[in-house]
Amino acid sequence: MEYTQLGETGLTVSVAGLGCGGGSRLGMNRGLSTAESVALVRTAMDLGVNYLDTAAVYGTEGIVGEAIESVPRDEIFVATKATIRKGMELLPVEDVLASLDNSLRTLGTDYVDVFQFHAVPPALYDRIREEYAPALLREKEKGKLRHLGLTETPPNDPAGEMLIKASRDPVWEVIMLGFHMMHQVARRNCFPGTMENGIGTVLMFVVRSIFSIPGRLEETMASLAAEGKVPDWLAEGEGPLDFLIHEGGAESVIDAAYRYARHEPGTDVILFGTGVEEHLRTNLASILKPPLPAEDVAKLNELFNHLEGVGLDLPEKRTG
Ligand SMILES: NC(=O)c1ccc[n+]([C@@H]2O[C@H](COP(=O)([O-])OP(=O)(O)OC[C@H]3O[C@@H](n4cnc5c(N)ncnc54)[C@H](OP(=O)(O)O)[C@@H]3O)[C@@H](O)[C@H]2O)c1
Repeated sequence: MEYTQLGETGLTVSVAGLGCGGGSRLGMNRGLSTAESVALVRTAMDLGVNYLDTAAVYGTEGIVGEAIESVPRDEIFVATKATIRKGMELLPVEDVLASLDNSLRTLGTDYVDVFQFHAVPPALYDRIREEYAPALLREKEKGKLRHLGLTETPPNDPAGEMLIKASRDPVWEVIMLGFHMMHQVARRNCFPGTMENGIGTVLMFVVRSIFSIPGRLEETMASLAAEGKVPDWLAEGEGPLDFLIHEGGAESVIDAAYRYARHEPGTDVILFGTGVEEHLRTNLASILKPPLPAEDVAKLNELFNHLEGVGLDLPEKRTG
């Protein structure tokens, strides 16, 4: 495993972090037992993963709590999140504080390393910053959390507007954001700010459905070509991104996706979510590989840098 600094938090984190939500929820969505999901987390930890990303809403905090019982608490970093809204209505701040307390109970720990406001849309950002962040900073003084952060909601904010403000405000020690080969918005509106302000970055949506569900990439390319947003040749035939797969290049589109994100300047932790041990192992291997060849990165940037909101679907249940 390789380790890096998470912004200026002082946390030395694995470059690969285990996502405990998404379409897999540690395999819960495909019917894994609690014991099997706990074993999956432990396998990740045995392979050097020390950053676990969960949330109150995922229903996986209990699994994470059970898995981390086997390691000294200061050797693992647990990030969780509280739901802040119902639709576009903010929940009372008391609910967010209660969510933190409940997360601590469910995780069986006295503190979380990173606490985040979950899925903050642009319209609610200012109130979260002005009214809710101070309340959580008081909880930080009590020792319930070590670092405060927030996550964006890419499906509701495809242009990443919230990130423009958040990445310039050092009150946030960690920001979780969506970034992938065909959604490169953060290069413009997030990484410059996070790098300047020492804010740690945790990436989600690096693979998600567009690169993992067969046929999804072809469908997406067909729509984008019809709208004139990508060249027609990308919509002709199967495997539009297979030009990335060659000797000295990527082994698969998923391998390319992880390597592309991992080596983007400004990224600290790449999250991957899975309920399948084989995926866990191959994803870790990809995240630890060298960058894609420079010509391939340049081609991805030239083809897709202008796109916004591609491949930002809500989680889909995995079966089989
Ligand atoms: N707003 C937010 O705060 C927010 C939103 C979304 C996600 N997240 C966090 O980010 C983490 C990452 O989630 P994500 O939705 O970005 O994507 P993801 O869960 O990492 O990946 C999407 C899907 O790809 C499949 N997959 C993974 N590796 C694969 C492989 N090697 N081959 C084939 N299929 C593979 C997984 O299903 P299998 O089980 O079949 O492997 C998974 O369900 C989540 O777990 C969560 O912790 C946060």
